[in-house]
Amino acid sequence: MSERAIGVFDSGVGGLTVLKEIVGQLPGEDIVYLGDTARVPYGTKSPQTVVRYALEAAAFLVKHRVKMLVVACNTASSVALPALAEHFSLPVIGVIEPGARTAAAQTRSGRIGVIGTEGTVKSAAYTAAIHRCNPSLDVINVPCPLFVPLAEEGWLDHPVTRLTAEEYLAPLRAHAIDTLVLGCTHYPLLKNIIRAVMGETVRLIDSAEETARTVAETLASAYLLRQAASGKRSFFVTDVPTRFEKVGGAFLGADLLGVEQIELDWI
Ligand code: DGL
Repeated sequence: MSERAIGVFDSGVGGLTVLKEIVGQLPGEDIVYLGDTARVPYGTKSPQTVVRYALEAAAFLVKHRVKMLVVACNTASSVALPALAEHFSLPVIGVIEPGARTAAAQTRSGRIGVIGTEGTVKSAAYTAAIHRCNPSLDVINVPCPLFVPLAEEGWLDHPVTRLTAEEYLAPLRAHAIDTLVLGCTHYPLLKNIIRAVMGETVRLIDSAEETARTVAETLASAYLLRQAASGKRSFFVTDVPTRFEKVGGAFLGADLLGVEQIELDWI
């Protein structure tokens, strides 16, 4: 069982930030990654649709006999985890819980900000997860939808991105938060601008890093860690791979080669 791969899925390239952290912490693991590029973005879709997409993506990975599912998409994690746990009998890790736990543990003032897609913010999944750790914490959620195309455009240090960040983050600054959860796969790429706008005293919580730690701990406690020096990575997408390969390289911090286009079965 430990020899099996970890299955990771996202709506597109964003989950590669999570994959990068998993590879950094667990270099010996084989990973099968699926980007549902034909149906991206998930962040603007209804919860019912995102749940269906997530089930279809997970079914594809389960056919690859993976030992664990990582939902490397905040929007899918915010609405689809119960359905995934009901349909599949392998460990399912989402990106919400690990980031929420770290934010709750690290805040000093008790005021936490969360930024994410419209879908993630509407679901209030981060607020619920933070309140499960400590119900007295004050959580303010702000959707930042334009951050997704800006990150994909590679405008990581661009005046337009800076202006957008100032606009989106103003309510969080006014609320004097001391901890900010980057609740979307794309936002770690914009860390520098977000930090510059929020100020050095606000702690940024990168859900990707925290999720990779949870993956490592969960595999270790189930004796499922693969004992190898390096693992194999396979990439699948639901649209032609050209754009995924081009944009994904920046998210992964490495060249993306051999990406294969597949079709998902309907559920
Ligand atoms: N991966 C999505 C998330 O983390 C962002 C992109 C999308 O909307 O599909 O919420």
